[in-house]
Amino acid sequence: MLREAIPDLSKFVEPDRVRKEVYTDQRIFELEMERIHEAMWIYCGHDSQVPKAGDYYTVQIGRQPMILVRGNDGKVQVLYNRCPHRGNMMCGDRSGNTGEFFRCSYHAWTFKHDGRLRSIPMDSAYAGTRFGKDNPDCSMKKAARVQNYRGFVFASLAKDGPTLKEFLGESRVAFDDMCDRAPKGEVEVVPNCFRVIQHSNWKIFLENQLDALHPSVVHQSTGRAAHNVEKAIAKKTGSAPLAYHMLSAFATVTIDKWDNFQTLNYPYGHCVLTGYMGLRPKDPDTIAYEKTLTKAYGKKRMEEILAVNIHHVLIYPGLSVQSPLQQLRAVRPLGVDRTLTEIWHFRLKGAPEAIYRRSLAYYNLVNSPATLINADDLENFWKCHQGLSSDGGDWVSFGRHFGRDIEKQGRVETGPNMGTSEAPMRGQMKAWAKYMGNGR
Ligand code: FES
Ligand SMILES: [Fe+2]
Repeated sequence: MLREAIPDLSKFVEPDRVRKEVYTDQRIFELEMERIHEAMWIYCGHDSQVPKAGDYYTVQIGRQPMILVRGNDGKVQVLYNRCPHRGNMMCGDRSGNTGEFFRCSYHAWTFKHDGRLRSIPMDSAYAGTRFGKDNPDCSMKKAARVQNYRGFVFASLAKDGPTLKEFLGESRVAFDDMCDRAPKGEVEVVPNCFRVIQHSNWKIFLENQLDALHPSVVHQSTGRAAHNVEKAIAKKTGSAPLAYHMLSAFATVTIDKWDNFQTLNYPYGHCVLTGYMGLRPKDPDTIAYEKTLTKAYGKKRMEEILAVNIHHVLIYPGLSVQSPLQQLRAVRPLGVDRTLTEIWHFRLKGAPEAIYRRSLAYYNLVNSPATLINADDLENFWKCHQGLSSDGGDWVSFGRHFGRDIEKQGRVETGPNMGTSEAPMRGQMKAWAKYMGNGR
């Protein structure tokens, strides 16, 4: 129906520019939820968020409130957060443990962890009616598909479509890189996450994730201030803590240096940004960590693992992963101009505590809502949405290095010294148009 209300969606996206309505039109937003977020694989949470039977987290997939829950059988399920009786939301809290079963707070129907109806109080009242344990309409509905890649749980509300592995394709490197850096080969979540509501369309956040052009502009003042302190500490003590480098890099890695990086863009809209600021200093913590990794994997494999050169992986339409620092941001659209981001970080199992502190420092200094880096970005997101809602122009331009993308082996790469190309935005919008056109 919505499709008909928007007569020619293909006119909204051109290879190097996009109509502003793509960010501001309520009808397009509804269609996006239907065709993209409620159809594709969406990240729900990590295995380690729900370690015990009955542990649950509520999560939003498109417009649908869902529950991620660990069952008595150890399996993780994703259910609609809705009671089949009169529609009451089953879990009102963000997370918790539901005990042996779910119990609706309205009329006390109870459900097993996999959503199956367990009991109805005084159920003789329903004798001879359509209600009963055998009627699936009396159970909590499950997500059509739930799959897990190395502990990261995704759900799709569509019963057909690519498997999670096919969908992730090369972007699996985000989880492989993160987990391989752990001497035990897996990570565990550090509860809880930061939650930020941005007053802007969800795509503005995703576009910014691999926008290598913006950091040295937007975050320059923060970077400069940190660089001054870093220099003063180094002068006084002979070396500066790595945490300062995480911030000062925004000033010292100038636009021309960002051009040395590269983006690799994939058909489902995923994208990898290569290159990273030095994470292998010769400090005792790093050396101790390298020894632990060598013990677990051998020297050759340790070198391979630490040589993976990734800054950021964007998994369309709702996940941004910084694997070398074990950070992840999940994007949950709330409305055409409101977007929730959940900012999580992880611990490398088996790695020394100091390596975790490094991840925590990056989490707090760069990704948290308390840092100036985040505030800088949020201000631009809001301003972009305001400008796009105005009559000051009809198009958003993604023309930087347009026509110079290199297509090879099913992916689009940026050319040499074109790391700041707008290829990732072009790739995302190309995927968007495809999803919106045929729902997959
Ligand atoms: S709405 Fe859940 S038991 Fe009535
Ligand atoms: Fe930024």
